[in-house]
Amino acid sequence: MENFSFYSPTKFVFGKETEGKCGALVKEFGGSKVLIHYGGGSVKRSGLLDRVKTSLADAGVQFCELGGVTPNPRSGKVYEGIDLCKKENVDFILAVGGGSAIDSAKAIAMGVCYDGDFWDFYSGKSRPKKALPVGTVLTIAAAGSEGSGDSVITHENGMLKRGASGDCIRPKFSVLNPQLTTTLPAYQTACGATDIMAHVFERYFTNTTDVQTTDRLCEAVLLSMIEETPKVIKDPNDYQARANIMWAGMVAHNNIVGVGREQDWNSHGIEHELSALYDCAHGAGLAVIMPAWMTYVVDHNVMRFAQMACRVWNCKMDFSDPKKTALEGIAAFRSFLKSIGMPINFSELGAKESDIPYLVKTFGLGETGKTGGFVQLTSKDVENIYRLAL
Ligand code: NZQ
Ligand code: ZN
Repeated sequence: MENFSFYSPTKFVFGKETEGKCGALVKEFGGSKVLIHYGGGSVKRSGLLDRVKTSLADAGVQFCELGGVTPNPRSGKVYEGIDLCKKENVDFILAVGGGSAIDSAKAIAMGVCYDGDFWDFYSGKSRPKKALPVGTVLTIAAAGSEGSGDSVITHENGMLKRGASGDCIRPKFSVLNPQLTTTLPAYQTACGATDIMAHVFERYFTNTTDVQTTDRLCEAVLLSMIEETPKVIKDPNDYQARANIMWAGMVAHNNIVGVGREQDWNSHGIEHELSALYDCAHGAGLAVIMPAWMTYVVDHNVMRFAQMACRVWNCKMDFSDPKKTALEGIAAFRSFLKSIGMPINFSELGAKESDIPYLVKTFGLGETGKTGGFVQLTSKDVENIYRLAL
């Protein structure tokens, strides 16, 4: 295991009707004027937005609002939010929604405290040191942004989808009420489940040895997802299954299952080009890319893939042919994704073979560049993975 420091300061308030506490929570963390930031309308339709406003008003907290964050959130909304926060003297941002609303809130929070262009943090020009405090009321178990120090934004100039990271954007609090996720369409639920599993796999496939504790934590999250996801696809109102998935989504991405080990993250990078170009759901893109990536890199460490096959997918170890077991595990992952309604190739996603050169170019590795922690990939490898996903 490698040395690490683990900082996860977010206060999680979990359970039924917990959104009623967000006014008191904002006050606890020093907010007096809040920007409520949300997406395309689901929080209005469900009545959640009204309940959040009531909670803020009851706590004596002033607020203004900015809705309209799109999935795969865009830079334009971030600039709008930064201007609004400055004009209204906002000192706390409350994201009500999923990863997109939360990531947009984090970008605004950084941008308000920065003299330059907020995009500097996403282009790699600058590292965030200061941000307005952010709180979240989560409505979908997926991205894990409610507990992460990450934000992913797409710049409309060039449609570049890029991430920024920093401890200053870890939410001060996150309200997790599984009841709020019952209004999700089955497809969106499945996209979220895929993303959660992908966050674990990005960490599970590592070159670091002697990481049994985090291996076993990863496997526990994956096994829970395999057990619970079909339950909510069948019955969207299954509270207990929704609750387990919601907590899994947080655990999968605040890095508790990834500390002390090298991580990969190539599948995410390769997927982000798909959701930037086609505006597909991030989880759906991962369902197409991740099994293809696994198949492409399996020879790098056949025994690690065989371990996944046996411990997670209940395959029987073939000691005379471990690669056969490894491939069975990957096939089991792909059929699970199919069973929950995910696309598993380019055409099911609506992606085009003819776009592959563009996708590789915007991935931006150049001729000799390499990326990834488990297996270093070149542009040619990235192209091969897109082709395997056809
Ligand atoms: O916009 P509204 O109307 O709210 O509708 C949303 C949206 O259309 C809808 N939705 C959310 N909760 C709902 C609901 N519909 C009905 N009932 C509810 N309770 O679902 C759609 C998707 O929402 P979105 O916020 O986009 O989903 P998700 O949480 O999957 O976030 C995806 C974004 O997060 C990024 C992705 O790349 C993508 O841009 N990621 C962020 C990460 C992070 N910050 O740590 C890590 C991830 O790997 C990921 O890259
Ligand atoms: Zn993800």
